[in-house]
Amino acid sequence: MMEYLALKWLHILSATLLYGTGLGSAFYKFMADRSGNLQAIAQTNKVVVLADWCFTTPTVILQPVTGIWLAHLAGYPLTSSWLVVSMLLYSVAGLCWLPVVRLQIRMKMLALEAVSHDRPLDPRYTRLTRAWFWLGVPAFIALVLVYVLMVFKPVLWS
Ligand code: HEM
Repeated sequence: MMEYLALKWLHILSATLLYGTGLGSAFYKFMADRSGNLQAIAQTNKVVVLADWCFTTPTVILQPVTGIWLAHLAGYPLTSSWLVVSMLLYSVAGLCWLPVVRLQIRMKMLALEAVSHDRPLDPRYTRLTRAWFWLGVPAFIALVLVYVLMVFKPVLWS
């Protein structure tokens, strides 16, 4: 029982970090971009990339590992409808996140280049930010739905 609860604690902590880091990064980047302050934009993009490595990458891995382990310990078949749909939604979020990592690195480079050469932001920055935002939307919706499925564990089919 203790193993199960410790694992569930880790699973929930990891979900919080995963979701919170993504939402926090999106908010701070949005506010920095809106400020038009190049130093702030460059610094925020740098921190967004760092937060992705420190928090998102480990939790993206931890989440399915702890989840599948919990299912095994609790005796939930991985074919349970709520788990199948959760894993599909999680895969959608993961597929959106992979290009986001690349976009973040490119935006960071563009912002740092602008600061170091004392010139305006490359117009590509706005295009990359737009793509970054629109990849984030389905990923966030998918994660919110996974939270619902995890808590309610509905039988969607039998
Ligand atoms: C990707 C594969 C995942 C699997 C296989 C999985 C599996 C599980 C299992 C078996 C439980 C135990 C439920 C219980 O003890 O009653 C659980 C709980 C939970 N999971 Fe996941 N999970 C996954 C991903 C996620 C994600 C992506 C999130 C949120 C972003 C999440 C959030 C939660 C929460 C909040 C609970 C606690 C629910 C409760 O105590 O009622 N899980 N998960």
